[in-house]
Amino acid sequence: MNRPGSALHAETSRRAFLRLGVASAGLVGAGMLGFAGCAVAARPEASQTGPGYDYIMPTDPEVARAEQVRAASGRIAAFSLAAAPAVVDLAGTKVMTWAYGGKAVAPELRVGRGDRMQVAVTNGLPADTTLHWHGIRIRNDMDGAAPTTQRPIAANGGEHAYDFIVPDPGTHWYHSHSGLQADRGLFGALIVEDPDDATGADADAVLVLDDWLDGLGTTPDAVLLALNPALAGAHGHHGDGTTPPPTGVSATASDEEYATAQELIDHGHGDSEALGGMTQHIAYPMHLINGRPPADPETIEALAGQRLRLRIINAAAETPYRFAVAGHELTVIAVDGFDTEPATADAVIIGMAQRVDVLITVSSGAWPVVAAVEGREGHAATVLRTADASVSAGPLPARLPEHDRRLVLESELRPAQSTVLDVREPDRDYRVELIVAGERYAWGMVGDAGELVMKQGERVRITMTNTTPMWHPMHTHGHTFAVPSYGGLRRDTVNVLPGQELTIEFDADNPGEWMFHCHNAYHFEAGMTANLRYIR
Ligand code: C2O
Ligand code: CU
Repeated sequence: MNRPGSALHAETSRRAFLRLGVASAGLVGAGMLGFAGCAVAARPEASQTGPGYDYIMPTDPEVARAEQVRAASGRIAAFSLAAAPAVVDLAGTKVMTWAYGGKAVAPELRVGRGDRMQVAVTNGLPADTTLHWHGIRIRNDMDGAAPTTQRPIAANGGEHAYDFIVPDPGTHWYHSHSGLQADRGLFGALIVEDPDDATGADADAVLVLDDWLDGLGTTPDAVLLALNPALAGAHGHHGDGTTPPPTGVSATASDEEYATAQELIDHGHGDSEALGGMTQHIAYPMHLINGRPPADPETIEALAGQRLRLRIINAAAETPYRFAVAGHELTVIAVDGFDTEPATADAVIIGMAQRVDVLITVSSGAWPVVAAVEGREGHAATVLRTADASVSAGPLPARLPEHDRRLVLESELRPAQSTVLDVREPDRDYRVELIVAGERYAWGMVGDAGELVMKQGERVRITMTNTTPMWHPMHTHGHTFAVPSYGGLRRDTVNVLPGQELTIEFDADNPGEWMFHCHNAYHFEAGMTANLRYIR
């Protein structure tokens, strides 16, 4: 593969892609699948020129009205976040990255249900940015998905104030929604406490899982460039061929960054029965829990006998994890912030952007907590230690016996009664195919993907068919859907396995324009994205 060696080169390949994008639409369209729903065609601007629809835009009165009826607690939770370049220490290895607050994970934000969050963001990065509140059904103009819901926050000093009511309790997270910035350090936990919590937990601990490569001889942008030189900087889902990409892809890589990226891809292929085949492309050199690698773990302090709720967030860009705690059974009690029927197991798989909450009854001692990379080697780990423990956990293993005992699959989880959607015939019934362009690293959504429109109050059904040889964690902004074939399990991100046809249903109760995409950050950048649009 030719290595684009300079900014000039990258700019050339960006233009080349824009031509290519058009060419491939013809090429692929001539085959069995059109490419219309992805990349260049899935432009948000297209919404204003659609076939006679009267679209509800983020700044329209319907959005403000929906906010007025959200149940508010009356409390204000104010925060400030400064995105900036930072040097972080990963077990003695100092890496250059971008972060909120100088660490490899952003500060945990904790609020109560119904609180009004006011978050002042300053952008000290050399690139535009935005901040997305993943999993909470907030007002559309605060969703932080540029250019769909806001203008990006300008590089080198731009500011933006987010202000919204948080309706959903549970384990959520926030991350940059610009380019591959969330594969640097720009993400953190958002915990919304439930005043009516009925889980019986005595305490909780938040575990943010992450795959890390930034600054370890390469960057996320260099990896994208190596995966598909035509894509970096082109921003399939953002660029329209006339304006420069509005987000953070610099589309440049030094020789060394590119060579390291190529190496990670050459050794990255993972394979998992539970996920139906190929799991990932990238062999991440490090995996972190709460910003720390296994060689320098954080300790979770607990009391023996305590019922501890672990709030596990997979903030990785490209890595699914199989999670287990040595010597402990897990009881899954919630996914993506919504309660499930309690399900006991020894291990659970968490796709990118998904959250799983488990309860454990803590045994006296020091216990390795291990998130093993699903499908290939690699692990993140930390230690659970009780106050009375006289032992240490010792060196943390890469895998526990628990990982290969009872695994609970996403398809086996069932929703708590309180989270079940009422049964209703859908007003809209859409079909979307998830596709890949042959051997090239270009992913897409086609079928009805270019015209997912709905009116407020409607029940919407979308059936996704995965025609690719890889699984995809598919995510809807602004809505938590039910998965009928999983008993109506409520989620905002669901794994669609190769060859699988999976239906989701939701109520159109949050007007505006919302992204619907694969949460593999690289698939997303390579075109696997669509929009849900409200019409009048
Ligand atoms: Cu975590 Cu488009 O979102
Ligand atoms: Cu994907």
